Amino acid sequence: MTKILDDLLYLGASDYSEHKFERIYQIEEGMAYNSYLLLDDKTVLFDTCDKSVGEHFLEALKEGLGKRKLDYIVVHHMEPDHSYELGEVIKLYPEAKILITAQGANILKEYLLEDYKERIINPCSSYRLNTGHHLFSFIPAPLVHWPEVMFSYDEKTCTLFSADAFGTFGGNKAGLFSNEITLDDHFVSEMRRYYSNIVGKFGPNVVNVLKKASALKIDRILALHGPIWVDKLDKIIALYTKWATYEPEQKDCMIVCGSVYGHTLTAAKKLQQVLAEKGVKASFFDATETEASYLVSEAFRVKTIVICSITYATNIFPPIENFLTDLSHLGLTKRTYAIMENGSWAPQAGSKIKDVLASFKDSCVLQPVLTVRGAFDEKNQMGSLEAFGDNIVNSLK
Ligand SMILES: Cc1cc2nc3c(=O)[nH]c(=O)nc-3n(C[C@H](O)[C@H](O)[C@H](O)COP(=O)(O)O)c2cc1C
Ligand SMILES: [Fe+2]
Ligand SMILES: [Fe+2]
Repeated sequence: MTKILDDLLYLGASDYSEHKFERIYQIEEGMAYNSYLLLDDKTVLFDTCDKSVGEHFLEALKEGLGKRKLDYIVVHHMEPDHSYELGEVIKLYPEAKILITAQGANILKEYLLEDYKERIINPCSSYRLNTGHHLFSFIPAPLVHWPEVMFSYDEKTCTLFSADAFGTFGGNKAGLFSNEITLDDHFVSEMRRYYSNIVGKFGPNVVNVLKKASALKIDRILALHGPIWVDKLDKIIALYTKWATYEPEQKDCMIVCGSVYGHTLTAAKKLQQVLAEKGVKASFFDATETEASYLVSEAFRVKTIVICSITYATNIFPPIENFLTDLSHLGLTKRTYAIMENGSWAPQAGSKIKDVLASFKDSCVLQPVLTVRGAFDEKNQMGSLEAFGDNIVNSLK
């Protein structure tokens, strides 16, 4: 069993059988469900795990404890990907006290159909758990991303237990500790995809808890998914700060296109080429072929979003409409939008998209909308496309 500290064991595991997280987000390289066991003078279990790795977890817990009893269970998050085995653990270790927020205790009752009132401790801000060589305090982190979430902090080892925050998609095959992995573009983009889709809506709450955490000396972050962060802490905290405040990560541009017969795709590709000639490397997504979570993640990364949509039965093409709905639900702000519409007889996608974007805070829409009717008319429309491209380039300055 992997040791994180002399008296702190890793009990989690990675699942590679499920291909979607929360039934909607594609996972390409598995998913890690982390859990931790402290074997100090007192024993403490920090969270359980998902159903998919439940058996492994229970075995690891029994082996880790050996003949010792379990004194405390800390529940940072009641979502079943971390609490699936909680009911079993509560029954197996009847002496264990349960540290959980008041809101968490309510949710626990909803799932376990028992309140375990006499075993529950709601740690208030002055509450400290002294286990012998460790001293824990508890930090509420409401709506990061459920209401009952809390972090905990051990002041003796400067360890922050951060619930889902700083988690990512992907199993821990490449390395359990962050110093075994490279924070390359792919890793960061999977972290962003996890953050933006799952926590993205709750930026202000993330900002609040980051502010509280900034007062602490942190040497290691133990999240419920992804690697154990023992280095690169400044980098991941800086990324989280950007994402939580909806600041574009880079002054880049993405093109999202929705087309049935390919004419809008051709025009959008032409735009990508025009932008490249002007020195802007825009990423390109066919909304009919890309899972929404990747579009959302890229929207959190870039500054300018070019939306290309056909008019579809007088409306926005549904995959593009879905993308806009996602951005609206997540409360994405501080972006610039450019619109290319197509319509064979009465183009309306552009004005409908503008209507949707009107409710996006601190965002602006470049003028004019570029209208394509059926096929892109290279002979007569190249000038308009060039001007459209110049507007986009200027928005990135
Ligand atoms: C099912 C369907 C409904 C459409 N509805 C409209 C419409 O209401 N108004 C319009 O001007 N064009 C409409 N169009 C035409 C498209 O907006 C677009 O001009 C055409 O699909 C060509 O672009 P594409 O090759 O990128 O798909 C419709 C096309 C399809 C396939
Ligand atoms: Fe969660
Ligand atoms: Fe989770």
